[in-house]
Amino acid sequence: MDDGILDQTTENAVEAQVEQSLRPQKLQEYIGQNALKNRLQVYIQAAQQREEALDHVLLYGPPGLGKTTLALVIANEMGVNIKTTTGPVIEKQGDLLALLNELQPGDILFIDEIHRLPKTVEEMLYSAMEDYYVDIIVGEGETSHPVHFPLPPFTLIGATTRAGMLSQPLRDRFGIVEHMNYYTDSELMTIISRSAQFFQTQIGEKGAQALAKRAHGTPRIANRLLRRVRDFAMVQGQDEIDQAMVDYALGLLNIDQSGLDQVDLKLLTTIINYYDGGPVGIKTLAANIGEEVDTLEEMYEPYLLQIGFIKRTARGRVVTRLAYEHLGLDDPKKEDIK
Ligand SMILES: Nc1ncnc2c1ncn2[C@@H]1O[C@H](COP(=O)(O)OP(=O)(O)O)[C@@H](O)[C@H]1O
Ligand SMILES: [Mg+2]
Repeated sequence: MDDGILDQTTENAVEAQVEQSLRPQKLQEYIGQNALKNRLQVYIQAAQQREEALDHVLLYGPPGLGKTTLALVIANEMGVNIKTTTGPVIEKQGDLLALLNELQPGDILFIDEIHRLPKTVEEMLYSAMEDYYVDIIVGEGETSHPVHFPLPPFTLIGATTRAGMLSQPLRDRFGIVEHMNYYTDSELMTIISRSAQFFQTQIGEKGAQALAKRAHGTPRIANRLLRRVRDFAMVQGQDEIDQAMVDYALGLLNIDQSGLDQVDLKLLTTIINYYDGGPVGIKTLAANIGEEVDTLEEMYEPYLLQIGFIKRTARGRVVTRLAYEHLGLDDPKKEDIK
């Protein structure tokens, strides 16, 4: 298993640049997440009609599902500027103030990994978000005094993979809280076809489907796999990427037929080998695998549930027959797991 290709969090400079060029600009070009898109369309239109800043938006979900892209799309649709930063970069209150100070009325401040903001910075956001001002202490010792900074109405868009790690007071200040879902194979096929056009690469329907199936429900991975397969096709002198080319290239890259990564596989085999296929509680499972409960619940389980490899029951997680079949194992229970 090549961890590099499936690890959604890895980003290098080249990839960042490619991603930039692949990003849709408008809500209409943004594929999938339909219910979320429809709601956003309404909120954006309403804010524009009232000539107000859009309410603060929190986007959460696994990496690579299009949170950053969506933030940029929202700014575009609103016709406002967007400043982007990430939680760990804002170390002090002064850093946040510098960012807020540059905002024009209606502008967007995008904070990625918002769960990683230092506490003092987070607390300063409360009044900024609620009443558009911040109070900070200037100077030291006897000369120190509070200074009141009014801010223009603005929109904070926060993105996080770990909604569970966000404090309640911060969470409560977002008027719009949206969870991003994994993409269906057919949505991923549309994304792959669109990206292929950018890369000036031909890919047939079957080829796109084979790629989509291994993309872990994730556009970033779909685009990454497409770039790799394109390299193989080019070197082989094949003009159009077909299913055989996808199978050949991804086989060489050791990518599982369902696009499972190492943690997915470990999760499944742990339930099978140590707990007879389950049920097993999530805490026990997390301790066994060496991952946090939150990480399993927010980043891994949703995909395995979506493809029907595990089920959640009142007594814990259970591996399904489908997963046994996929792993080439015999399901000891044989009967259908309910
Ligand atoms: N809905 C979508 N439609 C088309 N492309 C998408 C979509 N969502 C994500 N992408 C592509 O996937 C890549 C990763 O998206 P990104 O917004 O960086 O994800 P996240 O911020 O959630 O980690 C981007 O390059 C973008 O082109
Ligand atoms: Mg992002």
